[in-house]
Amino acid sequence: MTVLVDPSLTDDELRQTLYDGKLIVLTRLPAVSEFVDYCREQLTELFKPHDPLHAHEHIEPAEMAKILGVWKPRFIHSERSNQLVKRIITEAGLPAEFTHYDVPKPRTSFPAGHLTTGVAFAFPWHRDAWYASPRQQLNWWLPVYPIREDNSMAFDLDSFAKAVPNTSGSFDYYANNAKRLTTAKQVTKEEQERPGATTHQPIQELIVLPSPGSVLMFAGSHLHTSIPNTSGLARYSVDFRTVDARDLVADRGSPLVDVHCTGTAIRDFHNIGDGSAFDEELVVKLFGAPPDDAMLVFTAEDGERSAQSV
Ligand SMILES: [Fe+2]
Repeated sequence: MTVLVDPSLTDDELRQTLYDGKLIVLTRLPAVSEFVDYCREQLTELFKPHDPLHAHEHIEPAEMAKILGVWKPRFIHSERSNQLVKRIITEAGLPAEFTHYDVPKPRTSFPAGHLTTGVAFAFPWHRDAWYASPRQQLNWWLPVYPIREDNSMAFDLDSFAKAVPNTSGSFDYYANNAKRLTTAKQVTKEEQERPGATTHQPIQELIVLPSPGSVLMFAGSHLHTSIPNTSGLARYSVDFRTVDARDLVADRGSPLVDVHCTGTAIRDFHNIGDGSAFDEELVVKLFGAPPDDAMLVFTAEDGERSAQSV
């Protein structure tokens, strides 16, 4: 398994490299640095007069949940966030015409003992595919402040295409959309459906620590986890996802070896150029017809939209 840094690849090669299970770090995209600056400004304003890295020392978990429950949806849907994400994707070489993206999700990881549920949940070993992500999904993950081995995320590259016992069979995308309405209100109790590996013990874990201003790309089928935060510092990161329309139609993507969930997240993705969704007829053909009463996309304006993965 390989981690490529700033590779010279065409966009077709870039996607295929990720579908094959390799990781890619891009360190030279101006829009990533601008996005980091924007995120830091937002967090500084949100927690002032406290340093965002130490905010948890001054703010109780219940208050923190309230603050983040208001801020996260605003950040996720802000014009500036979305413009920067679109620029990051096109600067990486993926064409706007064929690339669909899902809105950026800010993640907060506080030291163990502080807010660790609801909006600040730490994810166990999982594949995003267990959350009904399509096999074409590529994940983009960037830290806002320097990260460390004791507050970031880990991959099990060896299990990329190997089946792992998991609870994805209990996950239905549409049912989960309905449950997400209440996530932001949770402080101490985790109620949302979170598929994960049941007894997984990786032989080896890979931790990649990109510096702020870099972005890590990986296939949504990778087995990965949040590392419990024992650093004493809050960790802030942002991630978003893309799907290539040509690959969706051609059924090119990562292997799916142990996915038992139902429904699909494909309707969350919109074209970078014109904002259009995938054609519904195509979606039904590829993923099947949803039940009549299904909540196809999560639409609550004031709810937490970061249900999926680390
Ligand atoms: Fe994830």
